[in-house]
Amino acid sequence: MPMIRETIVTTADAAGNVHIAPIGIIAEGDDWIIAPFRPSTTLDNLRAVPFAVANYTDDVRVFAGCLTGRPDWPTTAAQVVPVPRLAAALAHAELAVDAVTEHDQRPRFRCRVVHRAAHAPFEGFNRAKAAVVEAAILASRLGMLPREKVDEEIAYLQIAIAKTAGPAEQEAWGWLMEKIRAHYGAP
Ligand SMILES: Cc1cc2nc3c(=O)[nH]c(=O)nc-3n(C[C@H](O)[C@H](O)[C@H](O)COP(=O)(O)O)c2cc1C
Repeated sequence: MPMIRETIVTTADAAGNVHIAPIGIIAEGDDWIIAPFRPSTTLDNLRAVPFAVANYTDDVRVFAGCLTGRPDWPTTAAQVVPVPRLAAALAHAELAVDAVTEHDQRPRFRCRVVHRAAHAPFEGFNRAKAAVVEAAILASRLGMLPREKVDEEIAYLQIAIAKTAGPAEQEAWGWLMEKIRAHYGAP
């Protein structure tokens, strides 16, 4: 299996409107594959403006927020591509689409890194941040997963939240739990 890095991908439409989405970018040599499922704004944007930014952030509220109706996070101009980057990124890679492999469900955009920059120090792993990312993936697949699997995994991830979360992780976790409860119609 290829290595996948969980990032926040920014793209833009032809009018310059930015779109922010959590996407697992797939390593292929020195390149990265962005593989958005149809239909998606990221997919439409990559066709209209074949550039993206892979934003590396440890603010997991961005992952949870994008999946729970909180898509507006501050952005700032990138260095060489016509797509903004996340202002809070610890580091980012600017990407240019080199090739597209068409697919019915999940086309693949092979991207070359055209610029990279670091902005702030990475200050270590935190289990609650990882738990929020895992819960965000579950929350993005509620229609496809059996409820027992979601319940079991959330119960396990909750342990890391209880033991290691700071305020940002607690807030992100709260947004995701609200979405999951609303999906199942639970009180
Ligand atoms: C950690 C993480 C990784 C994800 N990776 C992908 C991905 O590779 N492809 C994809 O289509 N959606 C992925 N998703 C789900 C998208 O973020 C979500 O469906 C989003 O709405 C994409 O659609 P959009 O471009 O219309 O916003 C991921 C979600 C999370 C939390």
